[in-house]
Amino acid sequence: MILERNNLFNISQLEIQLQQSPLRDHLQDFKQLTYVYMLRRAAIKEIGTKLENLDDEFSLVHQHNPINLIEERIKSPASLMEKLERKHLDYTIESINKNILDIAGIRVITNYLDDVFRIEQTLIEQDDVKLVKRKDYINHPKPNGYRSAHLVVTVPVFLSNGTHKDVPVEIQIRTVGMEMWSSLEHKLHYKNFISKEKADQHTAKLQEYSQKLYNIEVGMQQISKDIEKG
Ligand code: GTP
Ligand code: MG
Repeated sequence: MILERNNLFNISQLEIQLQQSPLRDHLQDFKQLTYVYMLRRAAIKEIGTKLENLDDEFSLVHQHNPINLIEERIKSPASLMEKLERKHLDYTIESINKNILDIAGIRVITNYLDDVFRIEQTLIEQDDVKLVKRKDYINHPKPNGYRSAHLVVTVPVFLSNGTHKDVPVEIQIRTVGMEMWSSLEHKLHYKNFISKEKADQHTAKLQEYSQKLYNIEVGMQQISKDIEKG
């Protein structure tokens, strides 16, 4: 099951938002930005299909679905602009292509912990998928307790002139428990009307729960494996 988390997959919506974006005034080669977005959108779809196919095949062979949910999102022109600003990057297509690797984003929620690494490995083993960047926040969680595997891969997108381009997609792979944790942490992060004292308490609890959830997921994994052995 693939969920599209925003409406930028719709080409006319995308064009409207690009036209309305202040990037128009900042980017000399603005017209090429639609083309960049088209390519990234195509790359998301390629990776999404690969993931669905892996899940189907795994289920047939092993009677187990590694993937619970796939979510896809395209970075909004507003947040692209914010990122260029924050990272002090040039407002050029060249700089966007080189530095902004997360215009296309896919989140894969897996049922169990082992499934995260299974999905990662089987995806990057595919001949046409190239690993560009990898961060393992599962074995090395962030200080706040954030856990997830982050990859940037490229996948070829074929063009009308018969050639292809290797186009980057950012993939976040995490378990159901890690997803539950990070949505709550995200909520806390963006709510700034609660008192500092209360926010600190929640932050400390969340940090503790990250480890607890991890331990529970390790235990659940063991039970699942045991049941599968029969
Ligand atoms: P960016 O330039 O911000 O993308 O930095 P980066 O590429 O170094 O980012 P990183 O790999 O740390 O994280 C990128 C994405 O992971 C974010 O946009 C979030 O979706 C997610 N993420 C990272 N850290 C956290 C966190 O502490 N809490 C939550 N809820 N999400 C996080
Ligand atoms: Mg990023």
